[in-house]
Amino acid sequence: MRAFVVSKYKDPLHEADVPEPTVGDQDVLVMVTAAGLNQLDEKIRAGEFKQILPYTLPLTLGHDVAGTVIRTGSKVRDFKKGDEVYGRVRDGRIGTFAERIAVDQSDLALRPASISAVEAASLPLVALTAWQALVECGNVQPGQKVLIHAGAGGVGSVTIQLAKHLGAHVATTASASNADFVRGLGADVVIDYRTQDFEKELSGYDLVLDSLGGENLEKSLRVLRPGGKAIGISGPPDPAFARAAGLNPVLRLAITALSSKIRRHAKKLGVGYEFLLMHASGDQLRRMTALVDGGALGPIVGKAFPFNETPQAVASMTDGGFRGKTVIILPLPSSRTASLGSNQGGEDS
Ligand SMILES: NC(=O)c1ccc[n+]([C@@H]2O[C@H](COP(=O)([O-])OP(=O)(O)OC[C@H]3O[C@@H](n4cnc5c(N)ncnc54)[C@H](OP(=O)(O)O)[C@@H]3O)[C@@H](O)[C@H]2O)c1
Repeated sequence: MRAFVVSKYKDPLHEADVPEPTVGDQDVLVMVTAAGLNQLDEKIRAGEFKQILPYTLPLTLGHDVAGTVIRTGSKVRDFKKGDEVYGRVRDGRIGTFAERIAVDQSDLALRPASISAVEAASLPLVALTAWQALVECGNVQPGQKVLIHAGAGGVGSVTIQLAKHLGAHVATTASASNADFVRGLGADVVIDYRTQDFEKELSGYDLVLDSLGGENLEKSLRVLRPGGKAIGISGPPDPAFARAAGLNPVLRLAITALSSKIRRHAKKLGVGYEFLLMHASGDQLRRMTALVDGGALGPIVGKAFPFNETPQAVASMTDGGFRGKTVIILPLPSSRTASLGSNQGGEDS
């Protein structure tokens, strides 16, 4: 089948003919309709995640998928042939920039009925990040003040909506040209990061979601109330993350050193810092499905590319100047030439 792969870190993605996925007992074979792009894809291609996610090359890239179930493994009970599903596939089993992918059933959910597959493909990784930041790590309560950086981006645009749904007062940073857009998503306060210093405008915040790192993260600590918390998704990773990820002692030491400055700074201010690396979860996605169908959460597809332009789509993510997410769209199944192959260990539903 056709797929877009990384054969050497830093080289552009290229198209390849790869073997059909093997469908395990717990797996769902999905005919990919659309695949969402994430900065993580570009970072993996560039070799930035080699230590934390040590993949064997060549590697089919892609974390987010929406598509149709074409086969299920013998232990799959919640999905059947023909179901329309979406998901962020777990680390170690990525590869949604392909015609088909076998996904562990616990990474998938039925996609919201109120949106298209292209829209659904834009959601999993960023919606799960938003949920894990605001609910799991942040325990956001109604009336709390939450600052969400980069509100017009993939993560920001969903996190603003979720924070409003949870009843928070939301501030965000964005370019002036995106101010109305982020207000439309629910932001109560919009800071133009090009002309204003958010640190001078905001104070007493309960939670900050920082997706920029560096100086932005340091400044974010200073807008928190005592006891407030900053959640960093662009780093630096902290020792708790290194422990939970089971990283080797050398990497753990390096990570402890990387985050020591920000942790010291946080301690001095009486605030918390936590690094989050989101994880796949079909259960949490089911909640997202309900929120989307209930009107609380909407997908934001900024750009869509045909499948054969996947390398250009990945490269375009570093361009900026767009809102929300980039998605690639697969050709209609009837126009695909590759055979579906044999069952390879799974069972037909
Ligand atoms: N750790 C995790 O689990 C995890 C999960 C998801 C994402 N991430 C990381 O989080 C980062 C953001 O991801 P994303 O998907 O949201 O990226 P994205 O969609 O590419 O974000 C682009 C947005 O960043 C905004 N921006 C750029 N510089 C800014 C600044 N100085 N202040 C405020 N906003 C700024 C731009 O705003 P304007 O257009 O308004 O200028 C643009 O809308 C990436 O590094 C990604 O790898 C980590």
